[in-house]
Amino acid sequence: GCGGAKQETTTKPADKKIVLGFSQIGAESEWRTANTESIKASAQAAGIELKFSDAQQKQENQIKALRSFIQQKVDVIAFSPVVETGWDAVLQEAKAAKIPVILTDRSIKMSSGNAEDYYVTFMGSDFVEEGRRAGKWLVDFMKKDNEVVNIVELQGTVGSAPAIDRKAGFEEILKQHANYKVIKSQTGDFTRAKGKEVMESFLKSAKADGEKIDVLYAHNDDMAIGAIQAIEEAGLKPGKDIIIVSIDGVKGAFEAMIAGKLNATIECSPLLGDQLMTATKDLVAGKTLDKRIVTKEGVFPAEVASKELPNRKY
Ligand code: AHR
Repeated sequence: GCGGAKQETTTKPADKKIVLGFSQIGAESEWRTANTESIKASAQAAGIELKFSDAQQKQENQIKALRSFIQQKVDVIAFSPVVETGWDAVLQEAKAAKIPVILTDRSIKMSSGNAEDYYVTFMGSDFVEEGRRAGKWLVDFMKKDNEVVNIVELQGTVGSAPAIDRKAGFEEILKQHANYKVIKSQTGDFTRAKGKEVMESFLKSAKADGEKIDVLYAHNDDMAIGAIQAIEEAGLKPGKDIIIVSIDGVKGAFEAMIAGKLNATIECSPLLGDQLMTATKDLVAGKTLDKRIVTKEGVFPAEVASKELPNRKY
């Protein structure tokens, strides 16, 4: 009806739970599963009602989830964008509905306008720096100044921020070392199965071309673990015949290092749950957030693996 004065409330009644809609990419890796667990556990601990949606690695499913959160008028939307581009329309809709959007883990690029106008904060790792760390670790470890070092690269999901940035960061370091060459580079979609499959084809074509693969750089641990299997099945020793460096620092990587099959992992922490819940509460309370919250991370070579494994939380 009409006539009655509309109540203009900006703050939430104390008895109502904050509702957070979260669109997850999928369950493609050990990292992703740990990320999901972190978000679910932290939401529960914070007393936040979490509407969780798994997109099975499809952008269209993520867009659908975001639209449904808008329709349900959730208090805050958070998502980890599977790829960088293609979010313009749905983020404009969220903005029009005045629902704040938090980016977790991965960032975006808008085809027009400034991406920063469409989200309140981006919390997650510096993927370019992770790529640089992988490159620096490799150059220090190999100690080869003139001899050619042949590298194969397993890239993450095509068009995703971590695949683009980890490639760029690694290449930045290699540029200063002309004897290091990436001879093959292909996507393994951040999964073990794809990592294994692509490594098999790398090994086959290297053999056919009479090339020696010295190093594998994998954009995540899961692909490296899949590739380790392919290398063993080809009769070679992973970690010795082929030096392997990957990114994430999941338990599976530490176990592979202890077994001597992986040489180093560059940390990328999936434990974003508590930060996300704090940010959600702050937003609802009307606070302004920092536009960028960078996760602090380290580098773990094989020699520290057995000492570090008991401390690993994912
Ligand atoms: O966006 C982070 C990346 O996504 C992790 O490195 C990878 O394992 C995950 O699937």
